[in-house]
Amino acid sequence: MDHSERTEIREIFAASAQLAGREITVCGWLRTLRASKDIAFAALNDGSCFLNLQLVLGAKIPDFSVLRKLGAGAALRARGTLTLTPDAAQPFELHVMECVVEGACPSEYPLQKKRHSMEFLREIGHLRPRTNTIGAAMRVRSAAAFAVHQFFNARGFICAHTPIITCADAEGAGEMFRVTTLDMEKPPRTQAGGVDYEKDFFAKPTYLTVSGQLQGEAMAMAFGKIYTFGPTFRAEHSYTQRHAAEFWMIEPEIAFADLADDMALAEAMVKYVLHSVLERCSEELRFFNQYVDTGLLGRLQSVAGARFARLSYTQALELLRPFSDSFRYPVAWGCDLQTEHERFLTESIVGAPVFVTDYPKEIKAFYMRQNDDGKTVAAMDLLVPGVGEIIGGSQREERLELLEERIRAMGGDPAQYAWYLDLRRYGGCPHAGFGLGFERLLMYLTGLTNIRDVLPFPRTTGTAAY
Ligand code: 4AD
Ligand code: MG
Repeated sequence: MDHSERTEIREIFAASAQLAGREITVCGWLRTLRASKDIAFAALNDGSCFLNLQLVLGAKIPDFSVLRKLGAGAALRARGTLTLTPDAAQPFELHVMECVVEGACPSEYPLQKKRHSMEFLREIGHLRPRTNTIGAAMRVRSAAAFAVHQFFNARGFICAHTPIITCADAEGAGEMFRVTTLDMEKPPRTQAGGVDYEKDFFAKPTYLTVSGQLQGEAMAMAFGKIYTFGPTFRAEHSYTQRHAAEFWMIEPEIAFADLADDMALAEAMVKYVLHSVLERCSEELRFFNQYVDTGLLGRLQSVAGARFARLSYTQALELLRPFSDSFRYPVAWGCDLQTEHERFLTESIVGAPVFVTDYPKEIKAFYMRQNDDGKTVAAMDLLVPGVGEIIGGSQREERLELLEERIRAMGGDPAQYAWYLDLRRYGGCPHAGFGLGFERLLMYLTGLTNIRDVLPFPRTTGTAAY
């Protein structure tokens, strides 16, 4: 069989009229097969698009007796004539003349035709990309990632690659994974008896980054507007459906900008990605709308055109207070908003994405700009229905003394942040930025409710398979 010409199923769907009547070769994996004595119908998926191609195998083709017994999962190469079928459920089918089994697939293959639970699929992380649900989620992931780069690129942002190994705790929350080459069983000791990190690879304690923001700010002070898009790591012991230990974050940083500019950027970015995915992943979204979340398409379409709401933290609390008896956690000024509060606010009170701004300074990171009231900071979180927080951002404290004061007040040592403080000493300016949790956005776009299902190989507390 000729290996040089292979047509992808995506191309067939895009140009079936031109390909009709032509002889083509396709390669892919068998999803399902229905066979009788003298004919077999196979659904072939090659990963180039969400949809399958129907193969029709007649009894006269070579090896029909073997082919008609093929199991789901087998890798095939088939040559045949593309035939339009305007009266059938599928728009066309391939009338096969020859079919080669590149890789057989025995009947213990776990992905037999039936609906599998998401829990079961998580146990076969190496095979689940071949399923409709995870396949669609990964396609949306790819399209959304590309859209993020397009959005920033079109607006002249510099794509900045900030370090993954770092000595800075960007959030000051102490949730970092240590990076070391020291022998954990027998670490070198200092005279005082502590671990001697001078003997470690970097001659000091280092960690996996929780955020690229601090280095992003340094880049923004040179390029004016930058964004990062990389993996971030948090050793939070959260057994929730929306926390992963390794997740991807998009972090733009803009100079000569305030919190309102920051929110305008966040809103434009989310809408751009949404439009892009609605356009490029229509099959996938239709699938999610049918099998995962029947309100999905309507919701995404309505949000794509609407203006996101904006509420201060204090206003949000006023709106939540009448319902305080229905929550597990108290609704009191000074407390952080819990997922239950966030979701109630965006789902039941606002009914659309909402920015909550100006949180109490005690519950936010040290770098956020203090407001004139002395109590709150110029922070913003974007909350969306079904997920809660997908973005956390702020205007940054550009005033050196106030920034040093916040570092101290939060138990930090300004000396540890010397280079970061330099950014205020040398041509500092008002600036702002935010972090979009990429998986949280994907949960919103797909309706999937567990972060483990929008990550190809999720890492969560207690689990790091593959
Ligand atoms: O709100 P966070 O902690 O903000 C920052 O890290 C800032 N440095 C961002 C910035 O201003 N440049 O995290 C930002 C977002 C959250 O809104 C959430 O969507 C996501 O990152 N996120 C997580 N996603 C999955 N698993 C986790 N454990 C996450 N922690 C945060
Ligand atoms: Mg946050």
